[in-house]
Amino acid sequence: MNMDEDWIDDIDIEIEEESYPATEVLVEEHRQIEKALEILEKAVRNGVSDPELYERLADFFSGYADRIHHGKEEEILFKVLKRTAPEHILEIVSALESDHVTGRDLVGKMRKNSENFDSLKDFALSYVSFLRDHILREDEGLFPSMHPYLSRDEEEIIASEFEKVDAERSRDHYEELLRDIEKQFSNSEN
Ligand SMILES: [Fe+2]
Ligand SMILES: [Fe+2]
Repeated sequence: MNMDEDWIDDIDIEIEEESYPATEVLVEEHRQIEKALEILEKAVRNGVSDPELYERLADFFSGYADRIHHGKEEEILFKVLKRTAPEHILEIVSALESDHVTGRDLVGKMRKNSENFDSLKDFALSYVSFLRDHILREDEGLFPSMHPYLSRDEEEIIASEFEKVDAERSRDHYEELLRDIEKQFSNSEN
């Protein structure tokens, strides 16, 4: 049988990919934060006793993870969800908000102990595993489960509010700081 199968080409098989511009920003920031966590973990596990490195990492965590990234989540995304999302999402949000408080507290403790490696070590390792878990619960928990309650338009509005935070709180400055820390740390490893 010689069937003419040209018809198949007429079917538009391109499925429009769902896109979430605001979520993408947060996911990308998670990857940046994970880079800093990796440096912190390596430094501590290798017994690197360098107060300046830990102070710079604390600057990054408080300026970028806490003020910029967690700021976007708390002041913008979570605020919107509190108006649009059902109870089971709000329970996740409230657990994540209390994680942010714990995270800020641990960064403060690392900063205070930057010159005392023995104490710093415990705070740093708790922070690393704590924040990795927090990020995972957003990437794989909150984000996919909130999408049905956020329209594409809402995602776009949130993304443009995020840009204002970047400008006000100098996101570029902190990404540059992270690149510097990466350079400094990889030189010290060689
Ligand atoms: Fe968060
Ligand atoms: Fe996050």
